[in-house]
Amino acid sequence: MSEVRETVLELLAQLGSSREARQYLKEFSSVEEARFAVVKVGGGILAEHLDELASALAFLHRLGLRPVVLHGAGPQVDGALAEAGVPSERIDNLRVTSEQVMAVARPVIYEQNLRLVEALEARGIRARGLQHGTFEASYLDRERYGLVGEITGVNLSSLQRAVASGALPVLTFLGESESGQVLNINADVAARELVWALRPHKIIFLTPSGGLLDRNGRVISAVSLNNDYEALMQEDWVHSGMRLKLQQINEMLQGLDDSTSVSITSASQLTRELFTYRGAGTLVRKGEDIHLHAEPSAQTLEDVMGRVEQSFGKRLRPDWSASLNRPVVLLSDSGRAAAVVVEGRDGLPYLEKFIVTPAAQGEGLGAAMWQTLRARYPQLYWRSRNSNPITPWYFLQADASERHGPWVVFANGIDDALQRHRAVQDAMQRDPGWMEEA
Ligand code: ARG
Repeated sequence: MSEVRETVLELLAQLGSSREARQYLKEFSSVEEARFAVVKVGGGILAEHLDELASALAFLHRLGLRPVVLHGAGPQVDGALAEAGVPSERIDNLRVTSEQVMAVARPVIYEQNLRLVEALEARGIRARGLQHGTFEASYLDRERYGLVGEITGVNLSSLQRAVASGALPVLTFLGESESGQVLNINADVAARELVWALRPHKIIFLTPSGGLLDRNGRVISAVSLNNDYEALMQEDWVHSGMRLKLQQINEMLQGLDDSTSVSITSASQLTRELFTYRGAGTLVRKGEDIHLHAEPSAQTLEDVMGRVEQSFGKRLRPDWSASLNRPVVLLSDSGRAAAVVVEGRDGLPYLEKFIVTPAAQGEGLGAAMWQTLRARYPQLYWRSRNSNPITPWYFLQADASERHGPWVVFANGIDDALQRHRAVQDAMQRDPGWMEEA
């Protein structure tokens, strides 16, 4: 590996562990070069965060990654139209584009494209502005919207050539008709069509808010469409802008590989989002299903046993699975999250083992697994070592906890104090089943 790349990796390690950074760099480098990521940048970011944007993109370029950048120029065009006194109106969320509007907008869009290209080049990064030739379009409805295009085809060759030559492609939302008429294309539509044509591994939306926000204005870390979409769409605090965004992402991800993810983040948080498990922003994936095995086969138990051993880095006694009292196994599609529940004191369910790989944790799979567990077992108790990295998270999930030396016992939904006491006692005298411990 080159010296530069090593140095950059060291830098990355400061965000998380170097293992995380290496793992993601490997993942992102494993797809075809031009298919690493599409980055959609709003005009507002170019206006206010050009420096952060250019430096985040330059950083990726130095790592050998070639994101495809697609940018808008909404606020700049609005400003120029106002200044020129050209009336502009929106119908159905589309800018009605008269010839006059196009005459004002076009140079403004080129100008913004150049600004980003120049900002990248000023950092010693090769970039290529591709203002034309990618989106083939026809009039959406000339009467109604004027020079607004509907995409009829996406031509990837210019951006692929840019990438092959080592440059970052920087695209605008303009398309052309067969006869060469320049047409204005809605940013979300252009992003979607580009993504469907290119099928990138990551789709990145850079927004000033840095993610989707929950009811308290905090960034939601992860959304798994399979598990959370319906529920989120029901929530009254999900305002219309976010509802639309979620719908668009949902539509976009259908038909793409399950491993494809969308990250909504800000320019300054992009590096952290990409190279750490926890990320910084909102990660949206289709998400995996969690299967419940009420009567797990020997095969399933053995599979889970292996995953538990790997996760804790120690061996279980060979008779561990046979010793479990009526075990129930919950397992995600990828096997990166699993839980084993047994029948404990007073017939109450005891969470014997719970594992989520760190990367899956960052994708929100731990939370999804926990939701499933919670729905199935309104009453549950379990224990964890103080030193276990997941213990602080358990405190947030449990409604009762009790410390016992190196252990903490947790309980949910066990309201009867005596019963809870018995459960705690039971948890403390349990044999966790490890080989090396007594
Ligand atoms: N670094 C990983 C990625 O970009 C995981 C990011 C997790 N992000 C989050 N907001 N939970 O694919």
